[in-house]
Amino acid sequence: MAEVTPSRRADLSIVAVDERPDLSEVDAIAVPVAQDGDVPEELAIGRAELLRAGFSGEVAQALAFPRSDGPALVAVGVGDVDSLDASALRRAAAAFARAVPNDSRLATQVRELSGVSVESAAAAIVEGVLLARYRFDLRSLSRGPAAVSRLVLYAPGAPLAELERGTARGRITAQAALLGRDLANCPAGLLTADRMAEVAVEVGAENGLQVEVFDRDDLAALGCGGLLGVNKGSVNPPRMIRLRYAPNGEPIGRLTLVGKGVMYDSGGISLKPSDVSHSQMKNDMSGAGAILAAMSALHDLGCPVAVTGYLMCTDNMPSGSAMQLGDVLTIHGGKTVEVLNTDAEGRLVMADALVMATEEPVDSIVDIATLTGACLRTFGNRMAGVMGNHRGVVEQIEEAGAAADEPVWQLPLIREYRSQLDSEIADLTNMGGPNAGSITAALFLEEFVDGRPWAHIDIAGTAQSDASDGWLNKGATGAGTRLLIELAMGFTPPISR
Ligand code: BES
Ligand code: ZN
Ligand code: MN
Repeated sequence: MAEVTPSRRADLSIVAVDERPDLSEVDAIAVPVAQDGDVPEELAIGRAELLRAGFSGEVAQALAFPRSDGPALVAVGVGDVDSLDASALRRAAAAFARAVPNDSRLATQVRELSGVSVESAAAAIVEGVLLARYRFDLRSLSRGPAAVSRLVLYAPGAPLAELERGTARGRITAQAALLGRDLANCPAGLLTADRMAEVAVEVGAENGLQVEVFDRDDLAALGCGGLLGVNKGSVNPPRMIRLRYAPNGEPIGRLTLVGKGVMYDSGGISLKPSDVSHSQMKNDMSGAGAILAAMSALHDLGCPVAVTGYLMCTDNMPSGSAMQLGDVLTIHGGKTVEVLNTDAEGRLVMADALVMATEEPVDSIVDIATLTGACLRTFGNRMAGVMGNHRGVVEQIEEAGAAADEPVWQLPLIREYRSQLDSEIADLTNMGGPNAGSITAALFLEEFVDGRPWAHIDIAGTAQSDASDGWLNKGATGAGTRLLIELAMGFTPPISR
């Protein structure tokens, strides 16, 4: 477990107080500076000097002033205070944490703002600090920014209970996102499908989830030909992992999540060209990782919705036993798929679970996957794609994405393109035409949900960041984790179309 999830090692205490904290206990204090108005006196520096140093007070600027006789003071830009929202606060907190990379004990003030409660402000600040200071490190000698060991949030005069609720919530959601990052950053050789199942069992036991693990024989008995087909070329066995979260009392809705868990995507027989960028394909399980990470938070957050998660785990490898072009797979439930490209494997592994999701009462099915390079090319890495057969489900995902600052944008399901998936010999092929690859992939998935309210989130772009910026770090982003938490926490069964 330690290697798979290094960020869980850190000891961290988060303290909420309704007065000024004891300054001897921290190494650095954030001092918010607006773009207009007075510079706080405690900085002992004027607006002109700040400007000379290039600091105007724009959101997420930060300038550290080390002091010999006490904690460093960090001027943190908060822009126009009246338009400051949770996502700007998250970015400002991240800038603070980055400005003092060697300091472990940080303190910052929390204020109620026009659009943001003390609770939400505190949660966003905790997220910003912890996400910005994340690192995944398998070095023998550790280096990089120090781990945060103490975080003090003070809000003079604010209701302490509200502040405490916010810090607790931020800690839970941030730590979930860090788990999502750890899973996706972990090399495929360490995090195989069976290891993923062990991690899920451990995380589930700690967080009130029921966890069922299905091995190759179980999958064969269930007729999960999609997951088994993709696994054929691998020496590592497949795993389907089913997670269940049930609230105390009658759930206000039922949500089923399906995640692509391709532990490494070589392309299979349709081998990807040799290119160092393919070392990123260890993150092709980011959808499954986001579901496990998000569900790890539901019990502690008191989610009122029943959530089931399917993690469809295998790697996609070429070998003498691998699935071949032209093979026909039978998906759970009986539909057949002609495989015309073994690199379009994500839709195959998820199809089995989508059908399983329809076999029990469910209000909405949401799948999440690093599914198409086309989505990365469409949106880059700051926006995920969403498609679905039900506007109400898509809307809830859009709102969750906005709240988490993990934005999504809807693409249309252009049904005229369905014929691109027609096969001469099977119900459909796994390969659309040369264009609109994200849409034809979604049209493939739609075939398996039997008309249930459903949406698909393509995180091929957002799963990875090529730079450390704000609360994002270079490498796996944990994308989808906080979005899915927001979705589950606020989920309401969509009314029929
Ligand atoms: N895992 C990839 C998608 C991907 C590509 C994610 C680049 C992140 C960055 C997926 O399995 C894949 O290979 N998709 C193919 C589908 C095609 C063969 C129909 C693609 O997008 O090229
Ligand atoms: Zn893939
Ligand atoms: Mn692929």
